Amino acid sequence: MVNHKNILLGVSGGIAVYKACALASKLTQKGANVKVMMTESATEFVTPLTFQALSRNPVYIDTFEEKSPEKIAHIDLADWADIALIAPATANIIGKLANGIADDMLSTTLLATQADVYIAPAMNVHMYGHPAVIKNMKQLEDWGYYFIEPGAGYLACGYVGKGRLEEPESIIEAIETHQQREPFLAGKKVLISAGPTREIIDPVRFFTNRSTGKMGFALAEVAADLGAEVTLVTGPVTIQSAHPRINRIDVTTAEEMHDAMHRYFTEQDIVIKSAAVADYRPKHSYNEKMKKQDGDWHIKMERTKDILQSLGEIKSSQYLVGFAAETENALEYGKQKLAKKNLDAIVINDVSSEGAGFGGDTNIITYVNKLMIEDEVALASKKEIAEKILTFIDRDMKDELH
Ligand code: CTP
Repeated sequence: MVNHKNILLGVSGGIAVYKACALASKLTQKGANVKVMMTESATEFVTPLTFQALSRNPVYIDTFEEKSPEKIAHIDLADWADIALIAPATANIIGKLANGIADDMLSTTLLATQADVYIAPAMNVHMYGHPAVIKNMKQLEDWGYYFIEPGAGYLACGYVGKGRLEEPESIIEAIETHQQREPFLAGKKVLISAGPTREIIDPVRFFTNRSTGKMGFALAEVAADLGAEVTLVTGPVTIQSAHPRINRIDVTTAEEMHDAMHRYFTEQDIVIKSAAVADYRPKHSYNEKMKKQDGDWHIKMERTKDILQSLGEIKSSQYLVGFAAETENALEYGKQKLAKKNLDAIVINDVSSEGAGFGGDTNIITYVNKLMIEDEVALASKKEIAEKILTFIDRDMKDELH
């Protein structure tokens, strides 16, 4: 798979640089065209000459050392690369990329490239667990960067734990597996709803629920990665971004989500309703802040529109998928929703089980299609679950189960 590919190997400064030598060598042996870019600190560990010999190409370190007058090296290399791999990736280069800092050859080139970027971190176990590093990695993941998780084991700093650069063979295997993944949603239009809704009481108060939007955003990002043209209608969430190729529509109330979903619905191939929509809203909302008074305050609630059901009533060729968040009899209630709302499939999650449901980065689901065939997915990251769900949908669409 890496044969004849142009691979830009970015080497940042950590003791694991020695493993990057093996990586450069193995990639070259597999037929890849490898060009190495080092940070200044990486050169403290291994000389550029080693990488030059292993890759049989010049090594790039200084942004201003232009080797050829016809080209601007960092742009030229950014365009040349089919794949960029940062290994080892230190907390520093991860932080720079996540914050758009371009102050050396490697960070500048990484901002300029359109290639698939793989990041293989290596650092001390406590650095790897630092909230700043976690936040930066999450940000990059949201933007579509692909991480090759560090292994656990003995670290050069004396600690035993997570942070050791993944072995060169495993890094190459991870890249090959990812590159071989068929963009099976290419040419498909996918509409996804995510997050909670807010039902307004007065200018300072609202009703909402515990949804954070993580599952819907994971679905949107994976669908975009798999080639789909994605529209993401989201309620209020703290997730800053979605993939640059996702058309994000922000809404607040169930009514606004209803209108946005209907606006985009007809032109879609796949519609996935993972939002946690409020079933009730205050019958009256006040323009001014309500002042407290003696005694109880009763708020009369009225039903919101069931968006999914309304889409089920008008659907033609769209493959329509709902979510069911349950705390008991999950499978039974989920299947009832599948039938009642005229869906093609439903994703059922028991939000009361450990590792599933709102807020976390993992989930456990059962996907049930129209034939009531069940596919269970055990505890996995929301991104992995998203990929499984999209694979089931693609399979069922090919079997014309809608
Ligand atoms: N849903 C919707 N509009 C609503 C309520 C729910 O579109 N007003 C959708 C959700 O996005 C989800 C599915 O319906 O895809 C099931 O939502 P859930 O909250 O599990 O169930 P409800 O239909 O609200 O039923 P109940 O509250 O009785 O469990």
